[in-house]
Amino acid sequence: MKVPYIHLGQQHEPIKQEILKSVEALLDNGNYILGEEVSTFEKRFAALCQTKYALGIGNGTDTMILSMRALGIGAGDEVITAPNSYLASASSIALTGATPVFADVREDYNIDPAQIEKAITKKTKAIIPVHLTGRPADLDAIMTIATKHNLHVIEDCAQAVGARYKNKSVGSFGITGSFSLHPLKNLGACGDGGVITTNDEKLFSYLSKARTHGHSSRDEVDFWSFNSRLDNLQAAILNIKFNSLEKWNNRRREIAERYWKGLHQLPMYVPKDKEYEHAVYHTFIIQTDKRDALMTYLREQGVDTKIHYPVPIHLQKAAAYLGYKKGDFPVTEKQCETILSLPVFPQLDNEQVDYVIEKINSFYKK
Ligand SMILES: Cc1ncc(COP(=O)(O)O)c(C=O)c1O
Repeated sequence: MKVPYIHLGQQHEPIKQEILKSVEALLDNGNYILGEEVSTFEKRFAALCQTKYALGIGNGTDTMILSMRALGIGAGDEVITAPNSYLASASSIALTGATPVFADVREDYNIDPAQIEKAITKKTKAIIPVHLTGRPADLDAIMTIATKHNLHVIEDCAQAVGARYKNKSVGSFGITGSFSLHPLKNLGACGDGGVITTNDEKLFSYLSKARTHGHSSRDEVDFWSFNSRLDNLQAAILNIKFNSLEKWNNRRREIAERYWKGLHQLPMYVPKDKEYEHAVYHTFIIQTDKRDALMTYLREQGVDTKIHYPVPIHLQKAAAYLGYKKGDFPVTEKQCETILSLPVFPQLDNEQVDYVIEKINSFYKK
């Protein structure tokens, strides 16, 4: 049996004709930039996240850069985030001119509030918790720290569309929520895309201009800014995919539960969300000291797995100027050697999931 890590063609198959029809209609009417499809998508996204506003942006990284610029964060400021995330959680900080500061994570891959407190200095302006793997970070503790130290919280929800913490959607806790619509995400475009959520009217008004050169009207501009808009064609596709989001996220949760039942008795860490967390399992990452051997064995058995991510951000060449060294974030560094992402895309059938479970069990019996 073959179990791919992901298969986007399979995801699009049942909705292909609908997508082609909507793309064709747009090709004919010529509304390519900030059209009705983007507005419709934004309304639906805001409703999903229980926020007043949602704004379609060119990609997830820009959602964070623009949010920080809107908050006046830049040179001389520090922003705290997790070193085990995708690099954009940190590069976005650096690209505003501010300094990324890292705080180690817990076993469940999310930032450790106790480590955040230790990393706060007089220069700290914001915290970027990442809801990594689609599991909400410890938001109560993070929001309490942020209030105590008067810091902004910009939630990196790139991997967590549809996730909830105590029945409240991620992206509605911080001053802004940053989402990626990259094709591999739980709600993915057929290209790049991103969304900012917020309840703050002033920020919304700034960001509405900031994503489109700083224009206040067709011929006037209030400030210099980027061109980073969600493409209308992508929004049309996303509006169709949106109809399946809840079903797909629930299927991810079902697969995660099946993995947990079949694997938790083995000598490895197997993720399981707490009863007040509603994780959407963008990735399903186990931890095992035999990671490399298991990965090779599974490949030989036809099961594709990945590592998210093998090199922590603080040890990347791009981050060398920050002066971090090996040993600074022991939990993250250990996880880099033990983590393995199993296939968890919603189109997997139970037979495939059971096959992965069976092969992992037989690896441990060897
Ligand atoms: C945690 C995290 N933050 C930020 C990003 C950046 O999003 P994008 O690739 O859409 O710029 C990604 C995804 O790539 C991500 O996984």
